[in-house]
Amino acid sequence: MKPVQMQSFGCFLLIVLFTSSFSVTAQPKGYLYDESKVTPYELPDPLVCVDGTKVTDSSAWLKKRRPEVLSLFEDEVFGCSPGKPKAMRFEVVEEAKEALGGRATRKQVVIHLGKGKKALAVNLLVYLPRKAKGPAAGFLTINFMGNHSVHADPAIRIPTSWVRNGNGVKNNKATSEGRGSRASRWAIDAIIDRGYAFATVYYGDIDPDFNDGYENGVHPLFPPKDPTKRKPTDWASIAGWAWGLSRCLDYLETDSAVDAKRIAVMGHSRLGKTSLWAGASDERFALVISNNSGCGGAALSRRKFGETVKRINTSFPHWFCENYKKYNDKEGECPVDQHMLIALSAPRPVYVASAEGDRWADPKGEFLAALGAEPVYQLFGHEFGVVTQPPVDQPVHGRIGYHVRTGKHDVTSYDWGQYLDFADKHLK
Ligand code: GCU
Repeated sequence: MKPVQMQSFGCFLLIVLFTSSFSVTAQPKGYLYDESKVTPYELPDPLVCVDGTKVTDSSAWLKKRRPEVLSLFEDEVFGCSPGKPKAMRFEVVEEAKEALGGRATRKQVVIHLGKGKKALAVNLLVYLPRKAKGPAAGFLTINFMGNHSVHADPAIRIPTSWVRNGNGVKNNKATSEGRGSRASRWAIDAIIDRGYAFATVYYGDIDPDFNDGYENGVHPLFPPKDPTKRKPTDWASIAGWAWGLSRCLDYLETDSAVDAKRIAVMGHSRLGKTSLWAGASDERFALVISNNSGCGGAALSRRKFGETVKRINTSFPHWFCENYKKYNDKEGECPVDQHMLIALSAPRPVYVASAEGDRWADPKGEFLAALGAEPVYQLFGHEFGVVTQPPVDQPVHGRIGYHVRTGKHDVTSYDWGQYLDFADKHLK
């Protein structure tokens, strides 16, 4: 950054740094939760290219700076993913016209990836609104506990892949006890009633969420030439889950009941980091939603508020590429911060949602990252509409959407109410 640009970006930060605060709830000890103790930091300017030139129009962003920022995130944060695989087959294993009390058609699709012992079967559940007049817009989501956990519908297939224990899961195998156990997070009935399709995929079908040396899930489908020598830029699990979402979109493109050009991608928490990366790396997603995604997602790393880069790389060494570990305790040396991840969705609509009690995810840092993405949206004529974090339960729905709701780290019907209104504005 040139000195004069650093100065103006610094001023902008000062204005937004000291605004509202949140009440403290239980969070891991030893981390920063006191806004007054956030040390001053400087964000990289999303509009200044590596060669020092300043982007002043949308075409320079799209042609020059966006590809640069994208490859910085690939090389330094998430790792580089392969493209669309040659060996991929879609199998519609079930279809029912009278699902959800006759309001939806249910489809269950297996996406077959790879061949032989390491082949993967990724299960996609799709509900299509019966009342839709033509191909439906919709939400592609990614879930934590299996497709059967999102609704009590007894016909939903139960995953056979690794699942985290709890919620009816025994020895990492899902059982029918988990049916509907996470239904409160998925406003499927409301989504269908508004005329949208709802699709969901279980993240463990794509890549199991433990540090397995990348031996399972999607990574062995694309082994490095020498498997003992993974590169520091090789893809890790978040990139794997995001890549899986792109494969689900590949299927949706083949389904004539779906308008694949009007699909929103949505995820919560680690899967909110995933939806942001999916939206950044695959421009076919028409709208991007990050729910309580926190560190490595929507929250600015340089604030070191709540979860830090070092902590996330230590607790979850398989989420980000090896290079990201260079920034443990050295956030300021990273050429990107999370406002630039959000900016990669521009000019498509993007929604960042926080929860007041979710201090581990740094709600304010999530807002500031959305605000830091605005200069890129402005190149396309879009304003965020706010300069300070809005009060709780007062959403802002510009081209960038944001809310902080009361309550804890979760996905609630309030969150979905916002996403539906936002989709009505941008996808209809
Ligand atoms: C942990 C982790 C977060 C993550 C969350 C989740 O709390 O530290 O980064 O978002 O798990 O995915 O549930």
